[in-house]
Formats: sequence, structure tokens, C-alpha cells
Amino acid sequence: MDGNRRLDFHGNYTAQIHGHGHGGISKAVMGQLPRGTSYPAPPMHETALAEIICDRIPGVEQVVFNNSGTEAVMVAIRAARAHTGRNRVALFEGCYHGSSDSVLVGGSDLPSPTDTVRVSEPGADMSGLPSGTTKDAVLIKYNDSVAVKEAVIKFGDQLAAIVVEPIMGAGGVIPAKREFLDTIRKETKKHGIVMICDEVISLRQAVGGAQSYYGVIPDMTTMGKIIGGGFPIGGVGGLREFMTPLSERGNVANLGTFSANPISMSAGVAGMEALDEGAIADLNRQGDLLRAGMKSSVQRRKVGARVSGIGSLFWLHWTETPVDCPRVVEQASSELSLLTYIGLLNRGVQVSARGMACLSTPMEDSDIELFIAALDDTLEELKRDAWI
Ligand SMILES: Cc1ncc(COP(=O)(O)O)c(C=O)c1O
Repeated sequence: MDGNRRLDFHGNYTAQIHGHGHGGISKAVMGQLPRGTSYPAPPMHETALAEIICDRIPGVEQVVFNNSGTEAVMVAIRAARAHTGRNRVALFEGCYHGSSDSVLVGGSDLPSPTDTVRVSEPGADMSGLPSGTTKDAVLIKYNDSVAVKEAVIKFGDQLAAIVVEPIMGAGGVIPAKREFLDTIRKETKKHGIVMICDEVISLRQAVGGAQSYYGVIPDMTTMGKIIGGGFPIGGVGGLREFMTPLSERGNVANLGTFSANPISMSAGVAGMEALDEGAIADLNRQGDLLRAGMKSSVQRRKVGARVSGIGSLFWLHWTETPVDCPRVVEQASSELSLLTYIGLLNRGVQVSARGMACLSTPMEDSDIELFIAALDDTLEELKRDAWI
């Protein structure tokens, strides 16, 4: 509206993996529109999308769809409670799993990075939540295997599920350590706890999602964003045994008037078909290029910042401490983060103000160079104007 042009490294919080106005997705949606926009029975595109997802993702033998990642997580937790007959759910410090009551805890006001507390009862992320919300949750330090073991020793027989982002998104774009995910897998199996991988953001890491990249098969997987081709969607998948509560033999219904609507389903099919192995490899190659450029700019300008991310996800944190958990992210300078965001905006680069950025398939290597140049120029300006 004000005449500015910006290159979109935000992608609506990573959902727009094919950018905007993708030809194949537009065609699929345009083809579906005159045939109907919602039905009270499964449309054929739902089956097609389910087949693509079940073929690709190791921990997904069956899948149901709803309208958002929020709903997917809510339903997965409900199924885990039904499966185990237990109530409490363990989450990780700094996590974000959407806006259902039971996961709006522990996202901020974290212990300091040097605090020895590893397992705690979380605080609420906002007001208006039922009083039991925080009591039903257990909060564990991210990327800390000892913390996982401690949580299971203390609360194992009460836990229905441990929910984990294999690549933490909103908490700072932090990849999990391999042995941390292995520990969660081992401990949940041992104690009959459902391991839920929230892949709403991380699914873009590989054709089989981050779980195939790490080689860890969770019991349940929640999805959203990229599986809908830019339209509203959520997906709850899992190994057959853990999907039973959601089947006709179970008693957890996946409700929703617009769940699995044919517009989201047809856009999803087109989007996922276009996101093949080659497309993901190219995105990840460009991600490596971009992070290397960001790191060399930070070193050249001699500023105290760290680059985080993996694959096609990345961010810059104003701290000299290695960024392996959200405690470090919370201690980083939010003022410099805001100034970086503004500096990039002023140079034609759109990222998330809260600190997350990603690539999309239409990007060329020249777009990566544009980002690095914009960041380099921003760092120089921050130094020149004595912000650093
Ligand atoms: C890891 C994760 N889970 C769940 C959600 C919620 O998805 P939605 O915004 O579609 O409700 C998000 C949203 O950003 C997310 O990052």
C-alpha cells in the first residue's frame, strides 16, 4: 500500500513454502472451487493427501485432518490421554504448539541458562486459561537428556504424552540434538508415554519430516502449515496403535465442520507433490549458503551474535552463548533483535519480528545474496550508530 517492495523470508510463519500464487496450487484450487468448498463426507483429495503423507512420513501410518496446527495438537493430546488413561502432559521450555489451553504454558519467563533446575511446573503464557492448565503440565529444559530422564522419574506414571518440536520454531529456530530425541524416544517407550512430535514447522526439513532426518519414529505426529499449500489445515497422524482412539473403534472424535475441506485438501496435494526430494534438497542447500553468509558477516563485523537454524529455517540471536535452548534465546538482546528486524525491513527483506525466518522454493541464489547483503549492511549501521 505504501509502495515498498519486500522479499518474503517470513512465509506466513513458514506456511508458504512455495511462496505466493504458486501455479500448480492455484490451478488445483481453481479446479475445485466450482465443484464445492465443503462437504459432510471425505472428499477424494483428502484420501490423496493422506496417502502422500502416509507414504512419506515414517511415524504416520494413518492421518486425520483438521483446520490448524492448534487443532492437530489439541486432538493428538486428547488421543494420547485416551490411549494411556493418564492426564498430565510434558512440554519443553520455550515451546509453541498453537493456542489450545493445555499448551499455552512455559513459553516464556524461563530459568536462566545457568540455573540447575531442569524440570518445573510451568507458568501460564496468558490470562484466561482454566486453573488446572498449569498443574496438568510438566515443563522440561529443551535439548537436555538428563532433564528428560528426571521428568520421567518424577512424573512418568502420570504422563500421557511428551510433546516435542524436533526443530524448535518460535522458541528460537533451534534444532534438537540427536541424542536428546533418542532419549525421549527411549524413555517414552519404557514408561508407556505417547511421544508426540510436533512437526507443524519442522516437516520441511526432509521428505519424511524432521523425524526421518533424525531417524526417530514418534508414536504420533502433528502437522500443519506446508501440508495445506497455503490454506488452513492441520493433520494428526501416528502409528496405527496410537490412532485407535480416533478410529471408529475409539471414542475421541476429530470434529470440525470444515475439517478436511476440499479446497485445503486439493491445495495440499498440489503443494506436497511440488515439494519433492529435489525441491527440499535445494531449499536446504540454500539454507546452508545463507547461514554461512550470515556467520561470516557476523565475524567480519565483529558483533556478538549467533546464527541458529537448520535446513531452510534460520535466525540471528544477539548473544555470544551458543544457542541450544530457549533459555539462551530469552537472555539475548530483544532491543538489538528489533533493530535488526527494522534494518532488514528497510532493506527490502521481510522476516518475522518475533525472530524466525525461512526460505521458499521460488527463491534463487541471488535472493540469498540479497538477504546476506541486507544483514551485513544492517550490522554495519548498528555499529556506526553505536547500538552495539
Ligand atoms: C510447532 C507449532 N505447532 C503448532 C502450531 C499451531 O499452528 P496453527 O497456527 O496452524 O494453529 C504452530 C504455529 O506456529 C507451531 O509453530
